[in-house]
Parts: sequence; structure tokens; C-alpha cells
Amino acid sequence: STYLLNDRFVKEDEITVSIEDRGYYFGDGVYEVIRVYGGILFTADEHIGRLYESASKIRMDLPYGEEEMKAKIEQLVKDNGIIEGHVYVQATRGAAPRVHQFPGEGVVPVITGYTKAYGQGAEPAETVSLKSVEDIRWMRCDIKSLNLLANVLAKQEAHEHGCYEALLHRGGTVTEGSSSNVFGVKDGVIHTHPVSNFILNGITRRVVMECCEELGQPVHEQPMALEDVYTMDEFFMTSTTNGIAPVSAIDGRQIGDGRPGPVTKALMAAFDKKLP
Ligand code: PDD
Repeated sequence: STYLLNDRFVKEDEITVSIEDRGYYFGDGVYEVIRVYGGILFTADEHIGRLYESASKIRMDLPYGEEEMKAKIEQLVKDNGIIEGHVYVQATRGAAPRVHQFPGEGVVPVITGYTKAYGQGAEPAETVSLKSVEDIRWMRCDIKSLNLLANVLAKQEAHEHGCYEALLHRGGTVTEGSSSNVFGVKDGVIHTHPVSNFILNGITRRVVMECCEELGQPVHEQPMALEDVYTMDEFFMTSTTNGIAPVSAIDGRQIGDGRPGPVTKALMAAFDKKLP
């Protein structure tokens, strides 16, 4: 397959990334994951927009603009013949001897990207289980940063408990998943954490909010208490890679009857209609 390296398309054996890249030293960079449905990028402009926003929030200037980035990502998808899958793209602050402060003039960001093909045909959204984990991340979770250590540890803890995803909470206040946003449904009302520095403003979340608006589905953008999630009627998580995934259990306690509920199902149907 073909990879993106800065402004070029290269084969794996042509890729040279410096041992002194600040991505290795500090996780000093940002990234995006964009879904491809039927050979077409879904919400590409939103993802690319967020990539440049994340870069700007860490005071990093990318060497080319959003239009060119989009063209490059589209080319990568085409070159690799991706029909169902995703694209990953990241940008680090570049390679320079290890000092914490920004490197001097002349050090340019390093952009890399790859595609991943899924098994033929879109995999149906699975029902998943969650494990609650204390959210020990920093205060700028709105930045899609390469620093994912707390997310990695949370996901690992969930997996070791036989769960698919970690349900992060700050002292009992639910924020999001380790790589997803989360929603609860109680008495016909959807609850989800408001957009703030404590969560990533998920693109799938945005599409789901649009679906809610179209369906006249009430949403309370108020944080949920962890103690309240167990008795919710429905629960689901959203992400680029999973779309909308119904949650069957949290910490081993079944949600509803353990199967996707009516609100979740209606949103999944509305979401599907928006896909290319
Ligand atoms: N994760 N919250 C976090 C912490 C995330 O890392 C992600 C995405 C989301 C969902 O955002 P979106 O709907 O824009 O994908 C929420 C990606 C998929 C990843 O790290 O692989």
C-alpha cells in the first residue's frame, strides 16, 4: 500500500522518519481518523477542519492548507483502492534534538498517513460493553493530540475486564469513552456531556446531534453522574470507526434489556441515511 509522507505518496520502504521526531519524544502532534464508506470519505471537511484546529491549539503551523490536505487524503484512498475502511493522518512538530520548548525556525511538521481496509461490506454496529475508569487525562481533551497514554491505559483496563470500551468519569462525572463519545437515554431524553475542554468534540457526535434535531429527539447536554448510568433505559457510544454502537452493559450491569432500544435504533437508522 501507499502512505502519505508530507506532500508525497510513498511505499513503506521509502518512509524515513527521524529518531528525533517530536512525535516519538513528546507525543507532540495531532491526528485524525476519517471513515470511508463505499469509496467516499465521510465528513472529510469536518475532520480536516478539526485537524487544523487541533494543530492551531498546540501552536503548530502545518506546511500546507486544508484544501491540499483533502486532495492528498482523497488520493491516498484512491491509490489504495479503499472501499470500506478509514484513513489515519497525523502531524508532529517535526524532528529536532530533544528539548521541551519548540524547536527553532526551519523545523517543519512531519505529516504521515495510511489507509486501513475493512472486511468487505460495512460491518454491522455491534452491541458493546463498557467498564468505568477514572478520567486522568489533562484539561485539554478538546485537542486530538497524539498523547494518548491515559486513553491507552483506560482502554487496556476495559479490555482486561472483558469490556470493549472504557467509560471515563472525572470523580463520578461521566465525560466520554477512551476513543468515543457516550450518550444515555432516560425517559425519552438523551443525555451527553456538553462540548468543552473535557471531551473531544466528536464528528460522529455532531452528526448524531443533527439526527436528534431532525427527529425532534430531546437532548440534554449535561454531564451524567456515573451512579445514574446503570439505570438508564438506553446507552450508546459514537466514533468514526464504530458509528453508533449500542451499549448492552456497564460494569457488568445490564442496560435496559441488553439490546438496542428504540431511541438508539431510530438514531442508527437516521445516521445510516446520512452515509454516502
Ligand atoms: N477516536 N473521544 C475521543 C477521546 C476520541 O479519541 C474519539 C475518536 C472520539 C470520537 O470522535 P469522532 O466521532 O470524531 O471519531 C471521542 C478515534 C476514532 C481514534 O482515536 O481512533
